[in-house]
Amino acid sequence: MIDGILEEYRIKIESRLDMFNALPGQPYDPVIDAARYSLLNGGKRIRPIILLEFYRLCGADDDCAYNFACAVEMVHTYSLIHDDLPCMDDDDMRRGKPSCHIRYGEGMALLAGDDLLTEAFAVCAKTLGLPQERVVKAISYLASAVGSSGMIGGQVIDTSVSVENEQMLFRMYSLKTCALIRAAAVCGVILAGGSDEQLKSAENYAENLGLAFQIIDDLLDVDGNSEVIGKPVGSDDKNGKNTAVRLLGESRCRALANQYTENALLALNSFDGNTETLKALTELLLIREK
Ligand code: IPE
Ligand code: IPE
Ligand code: MG
Ligand code: MG
Ligand code: MG
Repeated sequence: MIDGILEEYRIKIESRLDMFNALPGQPYDPVIDAARYSLLNGGKRIRPIILLEFYRLCGADDDCAYNFACAVEMVHTYSLIHDDLPCMDDDDMRRGKPSCHIRYGEGMALLAGDDLLTEAFAVCAKTLGLPQERVVKAISYLASAVGSSGMIGGQVIDTSVSVENEQMLFRMYSLKTCALIRAAAVCGVILAGGSDEQLKSAENYAENLGLAFQIIDDLLDVDGNSEVIGKPVGSDDKNGKNTAVRLLGESRCRALANQYTENALLALNSFDGNTETLKALTELLLIREK
């Protein structure tokens, strides 16, 4: 049941993503080719799905948030392209294929990431059929979430600060991973015209889901199968990263991932609407193998 719902979302999201920058008859443009290579190569698409589910949960029953949801996936894809570069994690595989810089070279990968980030905001601005003030508020939330006080701030800690204790580790996760997931959930609420209470609950949900999500990602880097996860195993170790696994050990990681998942599920209880899909997705992400 849940698999079918998620698959339906993915098909719709991917057919929209495929429209971006696909201009028939245009001359070959390497940066667009590189951006599309990374964007259309089969991620889990959890961020756009989360946005669309919160949009629906807050009472909207139309497709007006799809552009915005796709823009969030574009921002996410940019972050992955840059994260894989030799100056960052130096990983040569992503989503089961050679990383963008392996296929197109470092310069083009850098530019493809820049292009996706920039174009994402143009796509957000093309959210039609909703009150302008909601769109502006959502764009502003997304921009703050991915800048230096959000995702980029987390990547700064990840790459250049020695993470020595649990508090700092979770601060880093909250920024590098939770911030964009939080933006997805909250922008769904904002675009649907949800209340401040719903916004707070969405933040609470996404923060907890994001923490569980990054812990599982760290565990998969240790005990996952690279064919299944579609990226190298052992990357964190190779880079000497202080991850949850290294700092806390595997069994405490599992316990914490369970606890954060439980907190995320509880946060959904404050919504009146049907949360079955979000609950099932949240549970699936805890036991995922990729
Ligand atoms: C990978 O995100 C980066 C992290 C925050 C751990 P995902 O695991 O959502 O990657 P895709 O989009 O499915 O490839
Ligand atoms: C990446 O975290 C978070 C981003 C903001 C891209 P990781 O470096 O652990 O993500 P993966 O394992 O490469 O997908
Ligand atoms: Mg990284
Ligand atoms: Mg990485
Ligand atoms: Mg990782």
